[in-house]
Amino acid sequence: MHALWYHRSARRFRTAGGRSRPAGPGRAAVIVDFRERTTIRRAALISLVALAACRGADAVRPAGGVEPEAMSGGAMTVFDSSARAFGLPGPGVAGAELAEHAAGDDAFEVPFVLAPAPVHPGLGPRFDNESCAGCHRNDGRGRPPAPGEPVASMLFRVSVPGANTHGGPLAAPGFGTQLELRAAPGLVPVAVMALQYSDSVVSLADGAADTLRVPHYAIGAPYRALPAGLMLSPRVAPPNFGLGLLEAVPASAIEALARAPAAVAAGVAGRANYVWDPTVQQTVLGRFGLKANVGSLLEQTARALNQDIGITSSLFPVEPCDDPIPGCAPHAFDAPDSLLRVLTAYVRTLGVPARRGVAAAAVRRGQALFASAGCALCHVPTLETGAVAGSPELSGQTIHPYTDLLLHDMGPGLADGRPDYLASGAEWRTPPLWGIGLTATVNGNVNFLHDGRARTLLEAILWHGGQGAAARDAVRRMSKADRDALIAFLMSL
Ligand code: HEC
Ligand code: HEC
Repeated sequence: MHALWYHRSARRFRTAGGRSRPAGPGRAAVIVDFRERTTIRRAALISLVALAACRGADAVRPAGGVEPEAMSGGAMTVFDSSARAFGLPGPGVAGAELAEHAAGDDAFEVPFVLAPAPVHPGLGPRFDNESCAGCHRNDGRGRPPAPGEPVASMLFRVSVPGANTHGGPLAAPGFGTQLELRAAPGLVPVAVMALQYSDSVVSLADGAADTLRVPHYAIGAPYRALPAGLMLSPRVAPPNFGLGLLEAVPASAIEALARAPAAVAAGVAGRANYVWDPTVQQTVLGRFGLKANVGSLLEQTARALNQDIGITSSLFPVEPCDDPIPGCAPHAFDAPDSLLRVLTAYVRTLGVPARRGVAAAAVRRGQALFASAGCALCHVPTLETGAVAGSPELSGQTIHPYTDLLLHDMGPGLADGRPDYLASGAEWRTPPLWGIGLTATVNGNVNFLHDGRARTLLEAILWHGGQGAAARDAVRRMSKADRDALIAFLMSL
């Protein structure tokens, strides 16, 4: 009676291979029991294992052989360059893990609704979006709003100067650490964000020029006076795939990159962030979030449910509101631990799209330029994962994420001025570049950098300042043919 069925009645169930098949009773349904917090039921598990057996051929390695460097995610590499490329489980994901992935897939996509409700209850009362997929569209990235549009797939972190007891951002009185821009019907949102751009022209050595757009944010209609010194960090939702692999890279390997001789000699070595992880109640190396401000996928998922959608759980039991509006008072958790688990399993097991056209002459040339311009000092091409109990497909993999997961000072042009644990207001985590060439296909738009200000890959590069300035200037000095080759390489990732 209390068991709730997540199913795709109106939609189509997606198999591991990405083929669509109609959802039907007993085929795709997975149960998450809200009252008893049981695990996934056996029947559902069996039906999903059966589904795994019919995995489509397009998600597995082609018979003809693949260049090793095209295997961006090692055993987690998927061969699909369609709009689904970021949303498929890695080919090695099977059995109970695949069943959890499928249940998590549903929970990721289906909108939460106001409580009480039989399915997905607990939305708000304050929130930024109703679903994970509302921001991470097709498991890819969000975007800043077009003129006149409300903010939908980005969020605004806030804080006031100082640090909390764990060294993290100090909550802004009345606003916490994030501006939830939407509220349940009849309630006033905490504020309305306005965004405008101005132009900044950058000239290139060969006489060409590119116009960058400089964002300007304004907080309008705050429900109460904004605290003095309020700091604002605009962040667009990043892609969600390959994260289980990044979680499996040993902390010691990331710390070693901060001491890598080539990066140190060039003055671009990154810094590790260390953050409080409530899931293990200790300070750990930060690796998720745009300032490496989160230590684990479990925390990231529980935090997203809480701060982005207004869903409380055992890890974040308090609604993200500081005012006595209806629904904010302490209440039973909106989400059971089983929901946290399947959502985390989902993002942990999303595969990484294989590279395309690695052997083309322009791509090879661009790859050499990527190294000679110094890009690879931060966007480190190759990492190795450690051992993950029960997940051989995540363990001992050679992966090509093009990140060091470290913080770099990117100069005043990109600074948000809001520290996050050890990250300064000018530091950002090197974003992984794997899959970046598929952004337009998956998301229908291209918006790069933390706040989506860059409309092309070249614009993203031209915004690099601080430790990224030398690499940027190397690109500014390139001939058009070399710039095009560099972009061709990025498009092959
Ligand atoms: C309002 C938009 C929004 C919603 C809704 C949202 N996210 Fe996110 N997500 C973001 C942003 C922005 C970041 C970067 C956060 C940061 O830097 O602190 C992020 C980061 C992440 C990351 C880390 C990615 C990385 O590369 O480090 C994961 C994993 C994630 N979100 C999963 C989820 C899940 C699961 C849900 C649903 C429970 C969800 N998100 C809902 C916007 C959103
Ligand atoms: C000093 C370290 C560093 C160097 C060197 C560097 N980058 Fe970056 N790169 C970063 C960081 C950090 C960001 C994120 C900045 C932000 O979001 O504001 C970034 C962002 C990007 C992005 C946007 C990614 C996204 O998902 O939005 C691209 C593309 C990129 N870099 C390509 C390059 C290329 C090409 C080069 C060489 C010409 C290069 N980078 C050199 C650190 C570096």
